[in-house]
Amino acid sequence: MAIQRVLRFLLALWLAKASAEAASSVAKPGCQDTCANITIPYPFGVGLECAADDTFLVTCNTSFNPPRAFVPSINLELLDVSLSQGTIRVNNPVIAADCPGWYNDPNVNLTGSPFTFSDTYNRFTAMGCNNLAVINWGGAPVGGCMSFCQNATETRNGGCYGINCCQTTIPRYLKFVNTTFTSIYDSGNREACKYGFMVEQEWFTNLTSPYTASTMLRVPAVLGWRTNGMCKSLGMSGSTSANSSVCGANAFCSNGTLCYCTSGYDGNPYLADGCQDIDECADLTQNRCEKICVNTPGSYRCSCPSGYTSLGHLCYKDNGNRSARMAIIGTTASIGTLLLLVGMWWLYRIMKKRKKSLLKEKFFKRNGGLLLQQQLSSGEEGNVEKTKVFTSKELDKATDHYNEDRILGQGGQGTVYKGMLTDGRIVAIKKSKIENEGKLEQFINEVVILSQINHRNVVKLHGCCLETEVPMLVYEFIPNGTLFEYIQDEHVELLLTWEMRLRIAAEIAGALSYLHSAASVPIYHRDIKSTNILLDEKYRAKVADFGTSRSISVDQTHLTTRVMGTFGYLDPEYFQSNQLTEKSDVYSFGVVLVELLTGQRPISATRSEEARSLATHFLLAMAENRVFNIIDARVAKDGGKEEIMGAANLARRCLNLDGRRRPTMKEVAMELERLRMSNEKPTIQQDYEEVEYIAAQPSERWDATVTSTQSSVNHSASFSIDIHPLLYQ
Ligand SMILES: *[C@@H]1O[C@H](CO)[C@@H](O)[C@H](O)[C@H]1NC(C)=O
Ligand SMILES: *[C@@H]1O[C@H](CO)[C@@H](O)[C@H](O)[C@H]1NC(C)=O
Ligand SMILES: *[C@@H]1O[C@H](CO)[C@@H](O)[C@H](O)[C@H]1NC(C)=O
Ligand SMILES: *[C@@H]1O[C@H](CO)[C@@H](O)[C@H](O)[C@H]1NC(C)=O
Ligand SMILES: *[C@@H]1O[C@H](CO)[C@@H](O)[C@H](O)[C@H]1NC(C)=O
Ligand SMILES: *[C@@H]1O[C@H](CO)[C@@H](O)[C@H](O)[C@H]1NC(C)=O
Ligand SMILES: *[C@@H]1O[C@H](CO)[C@@H](O)[C@H](O)[C@H]1NC(C)=O
Ligand SMILES: *[C@@H]1O[C@H](CO)[C@@H](O)[C@H](O)[C@H]1NC(C)=O
Repeated sequence: MAIQRVLRFLLALWLAKASAEAASSVAKPGCQDTCANITIPYPFGVGLECAADDTFLVTCNTSFNPPRAFVPSINLELLDVSLSQGTIRVNNPVIAADCPGWYNDPNVNLTGSPFTFSDTYNRFTAMGCNNLAVINWGGAPVGGCMSFCQNATETRNGGCYGINCCQTTIPRYLKFVNTTFTSIYDSGNREACKYGFMVEQEWFTNLTSPYTASTMLRVPAVLGWRTNGMCKSLGMSGSTSANSSVCGANAFCSNGTLCYCTSGYDGNPYLADGCQDIDECADLTQNRCEKICVNTPGSYRCSCPSGYTSLGHLCYKDNGNRSARMAIIGTTASIGTLLLLVGMWWLYRIMKKRKKSLLKEKFFKRNGGLLLQQQLSSGEEGNVEKTKVFTSKELDKATDHYNEDRILGQGGQGTVYKGMLTDGRIVAIKKSKIENEGKLEQFINEVVILSQINHRNVVKLHGCCLETEVPMLVYEFIPNGTLFEYIQDEHVELLLTWEMRLRIAAEIAGALSYLHSAASVPIYHRDIKSTNILLDEKYRAKVADFGTSRSISVDQTHLTTRVMGTFGYLDPEYFQSNQLTEKSDVYSFGVVLVELLTGQRPISATRSEEARSLATHFLLAMAENRVFNIIDARVAKDGGKEEIMGAANLARRCLNLDGRRRPTMKEVAMELERLRMSNEKPTIQQDYEEVEYIAAQPSERWDATVTSTQSSVNHSASFSIDIHPLLYQ
């Protein structure tokens, strides 16, 4: 077991080493990358298939020990290759002249190769007494130096400053050195030996004595193999034509000359995949990570083990259990979010509710709620029965969301729906049409007036609703339609008998009388007409539509107003004078009475021009003593002549063009009651309530009604006065 483990460990080590070596190889894959201790990177190569081309071919002569490398294209020994500088170091021959037994190597000829003598690393050096050394290139001298002869300085001075040794820089891109030596003076045989060579300056100055170089056959020199603009070729410029850079992947060309691996990569930039990612994490000097280093292509990042917080490359130890804290933070955050959401939902609900209530309030105000409240609270004797202010919700429920099936009628003032309140009362709900402030005033007016009235022959107002966009009135439901429908009998099956007509007329007159004198403040209806008289299930009259009604203070006898009312019923005097008095209602009632008598329409195109108005038509007939010609057949049949004539005379008085000569409504009511009494025959079947109405003790009845519903003593008193004579007849 232990051995196996050791073996596995060793294998792993070996594999790691092998892969590391493979990654860092600078030669072409499968090529020899060293010769002795010399590294031979691509584009150089041992063997043609390993070199970029034959100029970079390197031979490793193993017959030497240690083996030595040569570059056959330039016929020089290779000492070193530098990819980063684009140079090689070679053993360059020393040329001598006048030196017995010295054999010169052939001059170095770099023509036709990418190599040049590096002008930065090399110096041309000459030695000898009185030696003038000149470099020729292409038949012309391109540089040179002269060394003087001085016996003593030879050993005294280690430098090369022109005495016995001279140095000079060389031109750029020098490819061929033809050195010629000239003796300035004849300096004897022994000292006649002259030397000239190209040498790497750093190596030369490292020599303890420069003259040791003259004893050498060869000295190191530096050759450049990357000249400017060579990024697109490895060899001679243009000799290896390529469109793109010779630099491999993750490499770039610097200054058009040299290839370099991009930062974070390392290797031979001239090989296709030479630049390998540097594992910075493997080298502690290459990364700054305090704890954990993660290598990434071209870079690395730092992280920290659990229990630490990472900050850049540093790690800080957490206080307490980090994961537990994270869990707590996470839970807190989620609970917080939940609470926030719930809170927002609540807020939304509240806002919505508030907005709705604000809207209701706005409607309430706009619909005259405040005015109404003021009017009602300042209402003189208080209301008979508190007019209820309904909520929009109640009415919505009552009308089944304003269902079209519930519509009773539609008119200029609005739509009337039939509805049922939660307490089971059937009501008529008038959805007013309020287009302008004037209409709104009418609406409030009706509410205020109706809230002051409690009379069996006046439509009862249960309440109103101001929260909706259009204000709404809630009345008692009157099931049998308008009086108009029964008089103009076209589609009504029941024809009103004379007796009923008389009763209805008396009821209307009673109601108007009450409004004019009995109510706390006189109220003028201003729009009495048969369409504003409703009939309940027992065909009792109910005066409705107080939209245009006015209440005036007792001491006022008249009120100047804009003329309102319906043509055909309109008091001509009021029409002309604009002065509203109680007699205007008397006139309109007169027209209704005539309608009841004749069954004709207040305005009719079938009649002659002057008799187009029913009032005129009737007055004409009366004046001409032919009133029975225009009396309704049913009335003529049922009624006694006396009563009919009585009613006709009453109507004529009501229609008097001079308002002052018209009777008051009280007088009218009394007269009608008198007519009813005389008409009454014991055999005629009366409904119970009618009998009771007449038979009941008037004081009891009215007092009961009044005291039970109204606290005002004044009011009940005025009632007794008004009503008693009427009933005792
Ligand atoms: C190669 O080895 C020789 C002798 O061991 C030494 O003089 C020379 O400097 C070495 N060259 C390189 C490039 O290391
Ligand atoms: C190696 O060098 C020796 C001595 O200079 C020479 O004779 C031989 O031909 C060389 N071998 C190769 C392969 O160049
Ligand atoms: C140098 O070599 C080139 C081609 O290799 C040749 O054309 C030229 O003549 C040579 N120069 C000398 C001075 O030998
Ligand atoms: C220098 O050399 C010359 C001739 O070689 C010799 O005569 C002379 O004495 C030498 N001078 C010294 C100082 O050694
Ligand atoms: C070197 O230059 C000299 C003078 O210009 C010339 O005579 C000689 O032939 C040249 N040598 C070579 C090898 O080119
Ligand atoms: C010269 O000497 C320095 C220091 O001794 C050394 O670092 C450098 O490599 C030497 N240069 C050469 C070309 O041998
Ligand atoms: C170089 O350019 C030639 C023509 O311009 C093209 O045919 C060839 O594919 C290009 N080579 C590369 C490596 O882009
Ligand atoms: C680029 O090369 C040119 C010519 O060799 C040289 O003059 C210049 O200094 C170089 N620039 C850099 C940034 O190496």
